[in-house]
Amino acid sequence: SVIRSSLIEPDGGVLVDLVVPESEREAKSVEAESLPKVWLTKIDVEWLHVISEGWASPLKGFMREDEYLQSLHFNSLRLKDGSFVNMSLPIVLAIDDETKERIASSSDVGLVWPDGELIAILRSIQIYKHNKEERIARTWGTTASGLPYAEEVITPAGNWLIGGDLEVLKPIKYNDGLDHYRLSPKQLRQEFDRRKADAVFAFQLRNPVHNGHALLMNDTRRRLLEMGFKNPILLLHPLGGFTKADDVPLDVRMEQHSKVLEDGVLDPETTIVAIFPSPMHYAGPTEVQWHAKARINAGANFYIVGRDPAGMGHPTEKRDLYDPDHGKKVLSMAPGLEKLNILPFRLWYQVAAYDTVAKKMAFFDPSRAKEFLFISGTKMRTYARTGENPPDGFMCPGGWKVLVKYYESLQAE
Ligand code: ADX
Repeated sequence: SVIRSSLIEPDGGVLVDLVVPESEREAKSVEAESLPKVWLTKIDVEWLHVISEGWASPLKGFMREDEYLQSLHFNSLRLKDGSFVNMSLPIVLAIDDETKERIASSSDVGLVWPDGELIAILRSIQIYKHNKEERIARTWGTTASGLPYAEEVITPAGNWLIGGDLEVLKPIKYNDGLDHYRLSPKQLRQEFDRRKADAVFAFQLRNPVHNGHALLMNDTRRRLLEMGFKNPILLLHPLGGFTKADDVPLDVRMEQHSKVLEDGVLDPETTIVAIFPSPMHYAGPTEVQWHAKARINAGANFYIVGRDPAGMGHPTEKRDLYDPDHGKKVLSMAPGLEKLNILPFRLWYQVAAYDTVAKKMAFFDPSRAKEFLFISGTKMRTYARTGENPPDGFMCPGGWKVLVKYYESLQAE
């Protein structure tokens, strides 16, 4: 008998899967060899990975100009039936003048991994101008110098964008010892079904898990049970692609997350830890829409959002780049994030801070403001770097040890 999944539908109704079936691999690889080649950067591969597994469903390739313009101007894509899906970040492939000249007369091109391996075909290509200033200004709301993704990825990229339909010759693997954590939306959906989840709540993060994060996740579970769900499953979903230089690297974060489960801060029975392969933009309210949309495609119908999601300090001024409340406000109103959900898509906003009286992470109580300590990511890094212990109850000891070891190794360099 067929077990009907009760999980939320992917955007556009059908989960995109662009990895060619094993039986066609040989023939397509031969064809790819005969095509003009485009060399990818490491971050291009991360986006290719994202598209190929359907995180950006219903997007089926690097954006052509009409998709790019809709994403940039409307944060959404219009489907053939007139409905909209959210798509707040342009997912594009840049090429330089030389490459454009070389491939311009072809309709299909082969895409090459930085190590020289052919990994995909891009079909019915379209080449259009890459106006970097406009892309940066519209995505971040500023062109201030020091935006990590803009500076490291967009500015050095070529002056042209190439869109088309993607066919990936085999599943993307990085062979870094973490591939077993890289579950595709399809695999996650299978796992949620296997566990008979009646609600899936996702937590996006790019930092180590402290007890304030854990409080948000555990409180969400409590509320879901109160709402009548019998088996809510948490998707602890660290971002695995490009991050800025002073963020904690992925391998260290994965080790830290394991300790958080081992130490029982989160319940392993009701938690799935997996890697979200997307690169990070640090584009605040614009980017948090992408983070939520991708998790719908993976089967999550609840999304936890806290303070200043996908935000960072302003690169040149002493303030947050975005209003810390705007991520959650924008998400609750975002076009395309409301209507595909059969179950309501909930947002809970709470600020967690260290309660110096109770000596634990707790929801901030403004009436006792003076008794709370805000421990930012920067402050946490400073503790770890200087060998000072954070207050008791800030993070589980096993998890904290992993961070101290990492920062000691940095200093030894
Ligand atoms: S993010 O770039 O992935 O959003 P981070 O890993 O710092 O950043 O945060 C993960 C999630 O936890 C986000 O939803 C963020 O808003 C939330 N969050 C982080 N710190 C706090 C805090 N002190 N109180 C409430 N929410 C928080």
